[in-house]
Amino acid sequence: VALGELPDYPWDQMAPFAATARAHPDGIVDLSIGSPVDPTPALIRDALAAATDAHAYPQTSGTPALREAVVAWFERRRGVTGLTEANVLPTIGSKEFVAWLPFMLGLGSGDVVVHPRAAYPTYAIGAQIAGATSFASDDPASWPEGTKLVWLNSPGNPDGRVLDVPALAAAVARARQLGAVIAGDECYAELGWDGRWATEPVPSILDPEVTGGDLTGVLAAYSLSKQSNLAGYRAAFAAGDAALIARLTTVRKHAGMMPPAPVQAAMLVALGDDAHVAAQKELYRARRAVLKPALEASGLRIDESAAGLYLWATEGRDAWETIAALADRGILAGPGPFYGSFSPEHVRFSLTGSDERIAAAASRLTSAGLR
Ligand SMILES: Cc1ncc(COP(=O)(O)O)c(C=O)c1O
Repeated sequence: VALGELPDYPWDQMAPFAATARAHPDGIVDLSIGSPVDPTPALIRDALAAATDAHAYPQTSGTPALREAVVAWFERRRGVTGLTEANVLPTIGSKEFVAWLPFMLGLGSGDVVVHPRAAYPTYAIGAQIAGATSFASDDPASWPEGTKLVWLNSPGNPDGRVLDVPALAAAVARARQLGAVIAGDECYAELGWDGRWATEPVPSILDPEVTGGDLTGVLAAYSLSKQSNLAGYRAAFAAGDAALIARLTTVRKHAGMMPPAPVQAAMLVALGDDAHVAAQKELYRARRAVLKPALEASGLRIDESAAGLYLWATEGRDAWETIAALADRGILAGPGPFYGSFSPEHVRFSLTGSDERIAAAASRLTSAGLR
């Protein structure tokens, strides 16, 4: 493993733009990172507080109650039927799962990990940790022989792209042809906005219409970080193929990778309550409704972004020029190049600003534009 060769965290490159944005007389509006800004709901904090007597080791596989809650959540919120407790596994947030899955599956030199072209960087980092090769592609026909793991991400970060049932099914079919594991990273699934996703749930890779009722080789990752403002708790889970879940559970037992017992107790309560998820979604809906027209008025075109936590936008010039122009208006966004080499002219706006900060950004954009 060439851990010494991992790249520096790219956010360091943002420092000069952050300094410029912070110097704005009305303060910075930081929309560069998808870190929740609203409080953790009281019922979840209470569940954590009630579980602080945690003298015994927690279960790597999750408490039976938590596993049942994950199964019930998939059925209720995602339309995924047929799961049992053997199909689920809690994780310490989902980032560690993304980063370590190739290694935990035993991938190495010569193996290929496919991920989307515009992608969360951790898919490629995970390939690198395992010593495997990453390959960016959204076209299943182009996935090469030697592919051992495919990452899908719907709704996508950074672009908000949603894969419908036929697209998911085609990806699963191709992965099966290659003998690869396929994993859907679905952490933005509750945040559908436009077109059919305004009314229909975003489909899961575990949907029986996608898998044909056979979960072999298929995994989903989900996180409570965004839907429940729990990013600081590190609360997430994986689900799918029972044989893979059992293998991963064994590795994780040996490696000591289990969510703390109080966090498992908090997750259980979070998964049972749909009201706070709906309330949070309404906050993001309102912020999106303010920010999107303001970005458009300032000359940015919004691409994709039908679901998820971000607006994916371009002015048709180099992303860093847009980042600089935004910083001059006190606004920090994420440059497309942080999400791979296929998005040199895009920038990503996170909806994770307070109502007041999003309104400030909108008023600066509509009054002064970007050029
Ligand atoms: C696509 C995607 N996957 C996974 C994660 C990790 O989330 P967490 O580790 O908080 O569960 C993020 C966080 O931003 C993400 O955007």
